[in-house]
Amino acid sequence: MTTDADKLDSVVAAIAAEMTARSERGTVADYIPELARVDANSFGLVVVGADGHVAAAGDTDVPFSVQSVSKVFTLTLALGLVGDRLWQRVGREPSGSPFNSIVQLERERGIPRNPFINAGAIAVTDVILSGHKPREALGEIVRFMRFLADDSSIVIDDAVAASEQRTGFRNIALANYMKSFGVLENPVNYTLGVYFHHCAIAMTCRQLAMAGRFLAHDGKNPTTGLSVVSPERARRINAVMLTCGHYDGSGEFAYRVGLPGKSGVGGGIMAIAPGKASIAVWSPGLDTQGNPLVGQIALEILTKCMGWSIFAA
Ligand code: DON
Repeated sequence: MTTDADKLDSVVAAIAAEMTARSERGTVADYIPELARVDANSFGLVVVGADGHVAAAGDTDVPFSVQSVSKVFTLTLALGLVGDRLWQRVGREPSGSPFNSIVQLERERGIPRNPFINAGAIAVTDVILSGHKPREALGEIVRFMRFLADDSSIVIDDAVAASEQRTGFRNIALANYMKSFGVLENPVNYTLGVYFHHCAIAMTCRQLAMAGRFLAHDGKNPTTGLSVVSPERARRINAVMLTCGHYDGSGEFAYRVGLPGKSGVGGGIMAIAPGKASIAVWSPGLDTQGNPLVGQIALEILTKCMGWSIFAA
């Protein structure tokens, strides 16, 4: 008899084989020069089920730069610190604009549309930083990721952080612009320093899938039963991931994959099948919206084979 775990294992293995063989793989991000060195042929997929079963195939244990996927964890931390007051500093509407766009900020008086576009994530980082030294705030973020993944080996890739710090002119502009509206409390270079460093956290697909478990299970780690956030908060973070997690590609991701998900320009996507699984996929080549090309295709096949779209009965 084939169990659900057997089916998942074979689906994940088949997807990894197909995705690894694909020739069209998108373009590796090079606006952060250090990221341009990553091999575009890499591919990893890890699914952690509700029963703790881990289905894994491909480059599952190679650390990559999580970049914007870290914004899910900083959002969770900031909500823990200030609760719903966070929404006075950042909105929760899709932007329909690229992740590094500045256009809406002028019309909307420096309040970013959502916590996942760069401006919004910088505002969220500023909330975490308030009352702390940058080093302390960063320590909190890294410790939180280690706790969620149950893995103390997670570290920041300092070369990636330094690379973005040298070339992050757009983010410097976004942060200064928000500061001019009083949206940021801390010195701009402190807030950006923490932001660049949390984006530069390196994780494997396995660690990322483990870290996402609380979002798939009503805010709890299903293995230990420990609560990370309330069920209501987990539901709301998933809602923002669904509507805003892929920037101006969020509608397309919901249409094709049908799960809350968050992408990063390092090629990672964390996706959540509520009640069923936490998923991490890594494919460094990006599409024109800056979302991982092959990773999205892999997730589309996975949700179809497993019947996991949140829109399916
Ligand atoms: O701020 C940046 O541009 C990067 N540190 C993160 C951007 C990112 O990952 C966008 N995601 N697809």
